[in-house]
Amino acid sequence: MKLILLGAPGAGKGTVAKLLTKLDGSVQISTGDILRGAVRAKTDLGKEAEGYMNRGDLVPDSLIMGIMEHRLQEDDCKGGFLLDGFPRTIPQAEELTQLLTKLGIKLDMVANIDVPRDVIFDRLCTRRTCENPDCQAIYNTKSNPTKVEGICDACGSPAVQRADETEEAIGHRLDTYNEKTAPLASFYEKQGLLETIVGTSSDIVVNAIKKKLGI
Ligand code: AP5
Ligand code: MG
Repeated sequence: MKLILLGAPGAGKGTVAKLLTKLDGSVQISTGDILRGAVRAKTDLGKEAEGYMNRGDLVPDSLIMGIMEHRLQEDDCKGGFLLDGFPRTIPQAEELTQLLTKLGIKLDMVANIDVPRDVIFDRLCTRRTCENPDCQAIYNTKSNPTKVEGICDACGSPAVQRADETEEAIGHRLDTYNEKTAPLASFYEKQGLLETIVGTSSDIVVNAIKKKLGI
């Protein structure tokens, strides 16, 4: 499958992407995970992105497009991909359309996961993320806790709060989403690709996507 997962911070894009990869081997491409890996590895990209991310601002479009142009042409994308957190601005969406046309790739759908703001706030304050860049499993102290507190079930690395999970940064990320990313819904609606799924259960979201794709 070739999908975009659209949704506010904490809507469950990463959680749903990980469930979908198990269905047909499509790969999850999370620009947030890529950037956090770069921050941890202290690469030039990471050094440039870190300040924006910790404040809850978007990193510049040019940085993201450079990453994605390269990533979408890697071999593992041939079997399908789930774009998690990209595109996030109208210029990114326009450049993605051009890039996909150039590569001869057609999207199946854009799944817009719609979750109420109060649920989102609660989820982000209780999320834990595996800090191993090759794992980045997602947990929640309320809905999906690790078996041993603070330790990732999958790889044994520390499962920690992200640097952008302060109350201030979460509020700013939600405002940034409303201003810069929410307009993508009508962008993709006009292209006939948008499916908005209202629901706080990941199973509801996954089943709605499966139904739409006929799998
Ligand atoms: P990114 O990593 O993409 O963060 P985000 O969009 O803010 O989204 P999150 O990862 O916080 O939420 P999610 O929707 O994946 O939810 P999750 O599944 O974890 O981006 C981080 C930063 O990087 C940005 O702020 C920006 O600076 C930069 N960036 C990234 N991409 C960029 C781009 N394209 N352009 C510019 N800048 C970019 O779930 C949340 C929690 O809820 C978890 O604890 C989970 O266990 C729990 N949960 C999920 N589903 C359920 C459920 N159904 N029931 C109960 N709990 C649930
Ligand atoms: Mg995520």
